[in-house]
Amino acid sequence: MVQQTREQWSGSRGFVLAVAGSAIGLGNIWKFPYMAGANGGGAFVLVYLLCILAIGVPIMIAEILVGRRGQSNPVAAMRAAAEESGVSPVWRLIGGMGVLAGFLILSFYSVIAGWALDYTLRGLTGALSGLGAEEAQAQFGSLLDSPGLQIFWHTLFMLICFLIVARGVRGGIEWAVGWMMPLLFLLILVLVGYGAWIGAFAEGFTFLFRPDFSQLGPESVLMALGQAFFSLSLGMGAVMAYGSYLSPQESIGRNTVVVITTDTIVALLAGLMIFPIVFSIGLEPQAGPGLLFQTLPYVFGQMVAGSFFGFLFFLLVVFAALTSAISLLEPATAYLMARRGLSRLQAAGILAVIAWILGIFSALSFNLMSGFHPLGFIDALSGKTFFDLLDGVTSNIMLPLGGLGVALFVGWRMKRAAVAEEVRLGSYFGLWYFVLRFVSPVLVVLVLLYSVGVLRG
Ligand code: PFF
Repeated sequence: MVQQTREQWSGSRGFVLAVAGSAIGLGNIWKFPYMAGANGGGAFVLVYLLCILAIGVPIMIAEILVGRRGQSNPVAAMRAAAEESGVSPVWRLIGGMGVLAGFLILSFYSVIAGWALDYTLRGLTGALSGLGAEEAQAQFGSLLDSPGLQIFWHTLFMLICFLIVARGVRGGIEWAVGWMMPLLFLLILVLVGYGAWIGAFAEGFTFLFRPDFSQLGPESVLMALGQAFFSLSLGMGAVMAYGSYLSPQESIGRNTVVVITTDTIVALLAGLMIFPIVFSIGLEPQAGPGLLFQTLPYVFGQMVAGSFFGFLFFLLVVFAALTSAISLLEPATAYLMARRGLSRLQAAGILAVIAWILGIFSALSFNLMSGFHPLGFIDALSGKTFFDLLDGVTSNIMLPLGGLGVALFVGWRMKRAAVAEEVRLGSYFGLWYFVLRFVSPVLVVLVLLYSVGVLRG
């Protein structure tokens, strides 16, 4: 394995920003609200928060630790850490599955980011001003119905993502997330405030925070777990790859807590931004992937200078998506470079083209192929399109399995002394190590088994 001299983040700030940039993305702003909406609101949110605490925090620490210890791309880092502890290098397959999952996620992620690009342009041309609720919904419908338009934006997004990764990301990411993320945060706050004013805030708030367990179907628990992994960018080596550039002096624990808290706050705020509007315009909370794009244009339609704010908001969503997409492409690129001796340009190019082709099928899932249900013969999956399946399999199965692998590896296979030396959690070490060894894996396995049972009816 060729070991390059590793670059490092400029310090804790650079690392936190990059990991936060990876974590905060469409998962928070687009996916979390519609998942919560489709799974009964408060009860889902509660299970999600439990997953973050009992599984997300310990596993993120473990992933960063392996990356920094192994000083390489996820596959090589897992192998190096395994060799150091004298255990089988087969553990690198966990890294391999993660790299594959990230790449698959990238394919559909780019399609949704493409929707945000389309709305950015609408904001710029003034098409969002004065929109009523029905017009906003109709506008979104016409985007979904148009394969050409979706593929166009998907192509553009993938191209930008490729160009950034091909140029090497560190300087660029640190700089970009440093000012974009705070601005996005601010704008979300403004929209929560505005939405509260024009919408049904109390109803939205109650929906998001009052747990009604009768609404929590068995699959919802799996969804909450998958969403926790997806939103924190866990289980696929993104955080591991970024951890490999973290200087040995930095505290893994403190940085993890900062990233996870920020990610969670942004997701909850996104819910607060969307649900008051959902209820005030009579939209169904379980409207699915289109929820964000059907509610916010209405808010902008009611605002003074709404089209401008719409433009700014969707532009920032595109940036948030970009900083995540980069972290989806980077591990596979780093792997292909090391493995096949390709240049960064070649590796990123090949991967972007394949992800682009796959993405087209996701774009078509909303129109020409909406009636195509590849696994329709399984009852529980009967109505699922290609997009639904890819999203479900990666988030709900591959990411949790990847995270489980990392937890088992760090908790049970790495030498305890190496782990303790790398992570330096002080008096929290015992608690973290216990949760990582016993609590997180058991929970992940239980949820996965439970859902297999549900799928088989
Ligand atoms: N965490 C990102 C989001 O919430 O949008 C998506 C993502 C990025 C998932 C990177 C996984 C990953 F490795």
